Amino acid sequence: MPTARAPWRHFGYSAFAMQSAAPATDDLIPPMPPRLTARLPALALLQRFREDMLSVWHERHFEEPVFPTRLLTRRALVCNSPETVHAAFVAQNDALERKSPQLRHALEPLIGDGLFISDGLTWRARRKVVAAVTHRARLAEIAPGMTEVVAAHRAAWATLGPGAAVEMQAEMGRLAAMVICRTLFGAVATEADAAEVASAFTAYLARVAGEDLPSLLGLPDWFPRLQGFRVRAEVARIHAVLRRLVAAALAEAGPSLVRSMAAEGGFDATALRDEAATLILAGHETTANLLGWAWYLLSRDAASASRLRAEARAALAGRTATLEDLPALPFTRAVLEETLRLYPPVALLARQALRPVEIAGHAVRRGDMVLALPWLLHRHRALWEAPDAFRPARFLPGAAPIPHHGFIPFGLGPRVCTGSHFALAEAMIALATLAQDVAPRLAPGAEIRPVCRLSLRPGERLPMLLDPAP
Ligand code: HEM
Repeated sequence: MPTARAPWRHFGYSAFAMQSAAPATDDLIPPMPPRLTARLPALALLQRFREDMLSVWHERHFEEPVFPTRLLTRRALVCNSPETVHAAFVAQNDALERKSPQLRHALEPLIGDGLFISDGLTWRARRKVVAAVTHRARLAEIAPGMTEVVAAHRAAWATLGPGAAVEMQAEMGRLAAMVICRTLFGAVATEADAAEVASAFTAYLARVAGEDLPSLLGLPDWFPRLQGFRVRAEVARIHAVLRRLVAAALAEAGPSLVRSMAAEGGFDATALRDEAATLILAGHETTANLLGWAWYLLSRDAASASRLRAEARAALAGRTATLEDLPALPFTRAVLEETLRLYPPVALLARQALRPVEIAGHAVRRGDMVLALPWLLHRHRALWEAPDAFRPARFLPGAAPIPHHGFIPFGLGPRVCTGSHFALAEAMIALATLAQDVAPRLAPGAEIRPVCRLSLRPGERLPMLLDPAP
């Protein structure tokens, strides 16, 4: 990977140095929900928040550095500047618990005490192992599997006729699921396994995102929750597939993350299943969303699409990309980073205060929520020029510095994503390779709008036509 900035990107920055400029007339302003101009009653706001957490924000929320808000009975402080985000998620991280009730109730049935929602000693022990096996240093072992999966996807697309109709979001979901399953379970994972895991996870997330109202209402933890029969049935199905794959990977001599986690962390079968579920959950839909949005944005911006294609053809000469090719693909990387800025797959980071803290003069009480929203921060008027415009060049080497802690698609602090290099390598290999052959176009009549429940997606469907690349 071309950059080594810690933890993931490290520029010198001057916060709030960049004042908005009006977008240039040829700028692409991709879709976003309208911003509120008047106050909504609390219940209406909550209902909107449940359906799509992007559509509850006022214009002023794209300007303020920090603001208190309320989720009915629960107080929340939104950190909305590099300084306040750093104060909460890095400097005072110890006082804030990752396991927000919303996330725990949504995910615990599926991932048990997996890294994503564990805290304290369990988190510390698990983080060490999971971070080590997904670390950038392991990419040389992991990336050849990505190249193989992308080559297979490319071959499958080549059998479709020119202009073939595909559901791009589902295509990228299958590709990302195959990459994470190959990495986790090694050669024993088949495409059918990956497809089953992907569809089961997507169905689970769609259901729980709509069901756990008590948590969103801020009701206490002891309040009985309706865990639907269908949710339990889905979890049982996913766990059965994962148990089978974990056992097969352990019995196999070939390399896999499951074997590495068993060797390095001494995890038992349940811990292995929970961490496998965590990695699939954390690394599958997020990367699929990134790729889906990138194809969509390229389909709307012919100049960027042709620049990316030219770069890919020059670097790869028709080959499928490998890890070694990535330094020669700076524009591909910039397109993906600009996509992460405009449509961060994880649009909200939530914590719960374990003890009282103060952030930028605001008193946070024990039990209060502390939030950071990449959705707001990445479009903040004090940080970005033309914040709603798609301008990949802002991420090219030599461009004005990107505000450190103002661009947090992978989070920050001790709980920063362990898979950021993994995800970017995978997305670069896929986008550069496939863009050599095809120039996907949005299907006529399709209307795309961002929707965010647990992750930020281009709606339910992304129908595209695989036009041959010119
Ligand atoms: C574009 C793709 C991805 C995005 C945008 C993304 C984003 C994030 C974010 C924002 C967090 C922190 C959440 C918080 O602080 O509340 C996170 C955590 C995590 N991510 Fe990713 N992620 C991506 C891909 C991946 C991949 C591919 C993997 C694994 C191979 C992965 C593994 C994890 C894990 C294990 C955590 C939990 C870390 C902890 O709590 O200590 N992610 N991710």
